[in-house]
Amino acid sequence: MTFDPELLTMIRDRFHHTDVCPIQGPRAFFENAGGSLTLKAAVERTAELMAFPDNQGRTNVASRYLMDVISQGRSDMKLLLGASAGEVFIGETGTELLGRLIRNAMLVSDGSRVLGSNLEHPATYSACRRWAEVTGKEYEQVAFDVDTTVVSVEQYRPALTSDLAVATIIHASPVTGMHVDVAAIAAEIRAVAPECFIIVDGIQHAAHGRVDIDDYGIDGYVVSGYKLFSRHNFGVAWVSERLGTAPHDQLDGAAANVWELGTRDASAYAAFSEVVRYLEWLGAEVGESGEPRAQIEAAAAAIRDQEQDLVDTMMWGTGGLPGLGQLDNVRVVGPVSSEHRSGMVSFWIEGQDSLDVVDALNADGVRTHARKRDYYSATVLEPLGIENCIRASASHYNSRAEVEQLLATVSRLAGS
Ligand SMILES: Cc1ncc(COP(=O)(O)O)c(C=O)c1O
Repeated sequence: MTFDPELLTMIRDRFHHTDVCPIQGPRAFFENAGGSLTLKAAVERTAELMAFPDNQGRTNVASRYLMDVISQGRSDMKLLLGASAGEVFIGETGTELLGRLIRNAMLVSDGSRVLGSNLEHPATYSACRRWAEVTGKEYEQVAFDVDTTVVSVEQYRPALTSDLAVATIIHASPVTGMHVDVAAIAAEIRAVAPECFIIVDGIQHAAHGRVDIDDYGIDGYVVSGYKLFSRHNFGVAWVSERLGTAPHDQLDGAAANVWELGTRDASAYAAFSEVVRYLEWLGAEVGESGEPRAQIEAAAAAIRDQEQDLVDTMMWGTGGLPGLGQLDNVRVVGPVSSEHRSGMVSFWIEGQDSLDVVDALNADGVRTHARKRDYYSATVLEPLGIENCIRASASHYNSRAEVEQLLATVSRLAGS
């Protein structure tokens, strides 16, 4: 089921700068993997709360109000992440939080090996590599499957041993756009190494599908505000009770499960709550009148359907224009049809530098991004034998008309 035009209009109206760049003017936004559009409600709440001078932990009413906002934010984080236990807290960015979870897990584990995959973002593997060295553990990256561009149990299985200290899993790749079966990989790791700390990077996935932490059997999960309809300058981490109460940086005298360091920015918690209210609203609009979690799940299912339609349109064309999967000299990263694809198509035009193609798309009012063999994407592009590519990353608020705009320029550039 896809959104009817009235609902899509209502959805688009809830975001800032949906079809107009504040600097460039009219444009279609396919740079959602670089940061989603921002909910107007998140901006309003941020401005409102940033203006408060009061600190937390005082007896005045404003202070109590801010503490309620923070407490609501924490509950909303757990609701969205599907986590009934454990702790949630805010950090500087997703990168900072992944580094912190990985570091702490390494420092408390007796295990001697650390395992991840080369599909991962440097936020994960840089921390793994550094802290493996510091703690004298061995770090290994399994290779993702270059045909499916996904990492799965098959790749992890041969590398699993009972002495694993930490294992990391990326939930969705911001280069290939494919999502990974976290529950299956985590179950396999647990079966072999029950004590292993399993940490998941959910930063690319969270805006495109459900998160069900209760079902994953993991110890850490991280998302970023700006990639999830909210704003920059904060990420959210969830930790299991086991990792949450293991020794970590904190003020002397704080309770064992406290990970928050210093005074909180209540506006970030409030902005996150607005994201959750938005998803509940969307869930209700697509017909779910039950509990908030059921509405969030309905919203996630609707987002997936909508994004699948956008991906199909990108791949197979619209309005008489051929799709990326049909143009002779256009190559798509990963299979043209895959149940793992989450709202993104990365591609290149043979004989053309993708950086130039991104500029040409920009000039035509279509915002995309180039991925090249830099330290963000080389580990994924090199095994695929790709120098660079254009990443068109959609979100549920994109329209078919915007995809048509993208395809018109690509067709012109590809000479079709
Ligand atoms: C999968 C993944 N991990 C980590 C990051 C880094 O997140 P942040 O910018 O919040 O540090 C990104 C950013 O795009 C990402 O897509």
